[in-house]
Amino acid sequence: MATRHFLTLLDLSPEELHYLVQRAITIKNRLRAQGPSYAPFANRTLAMIFEKSSTRTRVSFETAMAHFGGHALFLSPRDTQLGRGEPIEDTARVLAEMVDIVMIRTFSHAGLETYAAASAVPVINALSDDYHPCQLLADVMTWTELRGSVRGRTAVWIGDGNNMCHSWINAARQFDFQLRVCCPEGYEPRQDILAAAGDRVTLLRDPNEAVVGADLVTTDVWASMGQEEEQAKREADFAGFQVSEAMLDRAKPDVLFLHCLPAHRGEEISETLLDDPRAVVWQEAGNRLHAQKALIEFLLLGRVDH
Ligand code: CP
Ligand code: NVA
Repeated sequence: MATRHFLTLLDLSPEELHYLVQRAITIKNRLRAQGPSYAPFANRTLAMIFEKSSTRTRVSFETAMAHFGGHALFLSPRDTQLGRGEPIEDTARVLAEMVDIVMIRTFSHAGLETYAAASAVPVINALSDDYHPCQLLADVMTWTELRGSVRGRTAVWIGDGNNMCHSWINAARQFDFQLRVCCPEGYEPRQDILAAAGDRVTLLRDPNEAVVGADLVTTDVWASMGQEEEQAKREADFAGFQVSEAMLDRAKPDVLFLHCLPAHRGEEISETLLDDPRAVVWQEAGNRLHAQKALIEFLLLGRVDH
C-alpha cells in the first residue's frame, strides 16, 4: 500500500478525519484518567524538520512521542545538511532508512510535496506557507469537545487569507460546516482553494456583518512567518479587522473564539480578548498534543479502537 502522508486535510477522508477527532478526545481523556500509561510507539522515532520557529508544534510533537514511548529528533537547517544544499529528495530517502515518520515545518508547500513523494515513511505538514492542517485537527477537536458535532454550523475567519485560512476552508469541506471568510481586498485566500469548497465558503468584507449569528470566530496574525517586512503595510491594510469582545457580542451567545497562537494583542485581537470566557485558546493549544498523538498513531498503526 502507498505510504499515507498528511500534507493537507484533503489527504484523509472526512470519515478518517472524524475518527481522528474522536480518537484525540479518547486519548486526552485517558491521559487525564490514567497518566501517560499507553505507549504504542516503543522504539519508534519521529524526525522533526523545522525551517521556521515553533513553540506549540515542537512541544506537542515531542511530548506526544515521549508519552507514547517513542522518541523525537529536532532537526534544524542550521545544523543539518539540508541547510547546506543537500537535495530534499536525498534527505527524504536517508531519513526513511532510519526513522518511522517525519514532520516538516517549512516555507514552500511544493518543496514539502517533493519531500513526501520521495519518502517511504509518512510525512506530516507541520505548517507550510499554504496550509496548517495539524492546527485544524486541534481546532475542530476543541469545537467538537465544547459544542458537539460541527456539521452544519457556521465559523467565521477574520483576517488574512493565509495558511490557516486555507486549512479552515479545507476543514469546512471535510467536516461539512459553513465558513465565512472576511478579509480586506488583496488578502483573499487562494482562488482555487476557495472555489473547490463550493457554496460552503463565502467571502465577505465587513467583519461586523460577517460575525452575526456565528457559532465560532477565529483569526490569525496579520503578518505570518516570512512576511515580517510587510508588518507595517499590513497593520494599515487590516485596520478595522481587529476581533474584539464587541464583535463577538454580535455572534451567537455561545460563540467560541479560537486563535492558533501566537497572538498579537492590540493587532488582530483586542488587548483583552484572550481573557474573555468565549476565547478557548489555551484548551485549543493543549489539544495540539492529543490531536498529534491521534494523527501519528493513525499513520503508524492505522485505526485503533482501545
Ligand atoms: N499554532 C502553532 O503552530 O504554534 P507554533 O508556531 O508555536 O508551533
Ligand atoms: N499564519 C501563521 C501561523 C502560525 C502558527 C504563520 O504562518 O506564521
